[in-house]
Amino acid sequence: MSNITAAITGVQGYLPDRVMTNKDFEKIIETSDEWITTRTGIKERRILEDGKATSDMGAQAVKKLLEKKNIDPSEIDLVICGTVTPDYPFPATANVISDKVGMKNAWSFDINAACSGFIYSLATGAQFIETGKYKKVIVVGADKMSSIIDYEDRATCVIFGDGGGAVLLEPNEDGFGVIDSVLQSDGEGRKYLIQPAGGSKQPASHETVDQRLHYVHQEGKAVFKFAVTNMANVSAEIMNRNNLTADDVDWLVPHQANLRIIDATANRMGLSSDKVMVNIQKYGNTTAGTLPLCLWDWESKLKKGDNLVLSAFGGGFTWGALYLKWAYNS
Ligand code: UT7
Repeated sequence: MSNITAAITGVQGYLPDRVMTNKDFEKIIETSDEWITTRTGIKERRILEDGKATSDMGAQAVKKLLEKKNIDPSEIDLVICGTVTPDYPFPATANVISDKVGMKNAWSFDINAACSGFIYSLATGAQFIETGKYKKVIVVGADKMSSIIDYEDRATCVIFGDGGGAVLLEPNEDGFGVIDSVLQSDGEGRKYLIQPAGGSKQPASHETVDQRLHYVHQEGKAVFKFAVTNMANVSAEIMNRNNLTADDVDWLVPHQANLRIIDATANRMGLSSDKVMVNIQKYGNTTAGTLPLCLWDWESKLKKGDNLVLSAFGGGFTWGALYLKWAYNS
């Protein structure tokens, strides 16, 4: 086996300027700040302006990341973008981001794994580094959820927001970076969480628009139960597989869908709340964007050698956990 691991050597987030608060929702649907806060932990989220797309957020994040790292875009070998709100059915949003940033020598593709999009993309990107063939891989996780949310569906619309981020992966020979991942999926979950129309099964038509089938349809309670069980299971599994005790884990980096799901996962891992990254109150659920946004918000606190467990659950169903050793002090 190769001794090359894929280390995250930089991270950058992107958030739209416009803030939509729970109070703003009180003006358009029957809800309350109190309901949203107690059921989800969310106070506000960001909304991207009309005319801008997921690639704009991804491209901004990647541009800043490369500037920070003083790396020319032509040096990037591969770009992977986790998203369920691509700019177009095709070409891939990663292709568009590469073009906007000028990553002329990179090949690029998207990964559709909903809220697990960043973990899936990170695990995939890491493999390309581990083979020794690629030296600089960009992994983006970003979603413009406001483009597929039905703002008349009060149980669903309040949890989502727009945003995302990007990381740079580079080879490491000192044991830092991605150590292990556990990835799962179960397509039966489409019963509970789906964007029904716009694909080959139900292409866009007047009927699909009239029936509001281009929006996210979520059976919240059912998804909640699967999320709590599976996110906790997979996080415990990655700890067991790598002989990690709660003391060994410095940070849980959980998908931000619902504070109650995050708490259940942390409890199962035996972690105190000071080791859990939570920014759901500021950004809501940005789908593939949540994990890079957490890493970005906490970057200054992370120390070389910290053990991080990333964990997510989302549409598909898809879920997974990834164990990584942080590679730098910022
Ligand atoms: O990220 C990808 C995966 N997604 C998730 O992990 C989301 C998982 N699910 C959840 O987080 C929660 O199910 C939601 C936050 C989406 C909903 O919370 P819930 O506690 O499961 O609520 P519910 O849908 O079962 O509704 C409970 C009650 C209902 O009223 P009745 O029937 O008890 O009178 C709803 O009509 O709350 C009502 N309700 C609301 N009330 C005020 C639903 N949405 C709202 C709202 N404001 N926004």
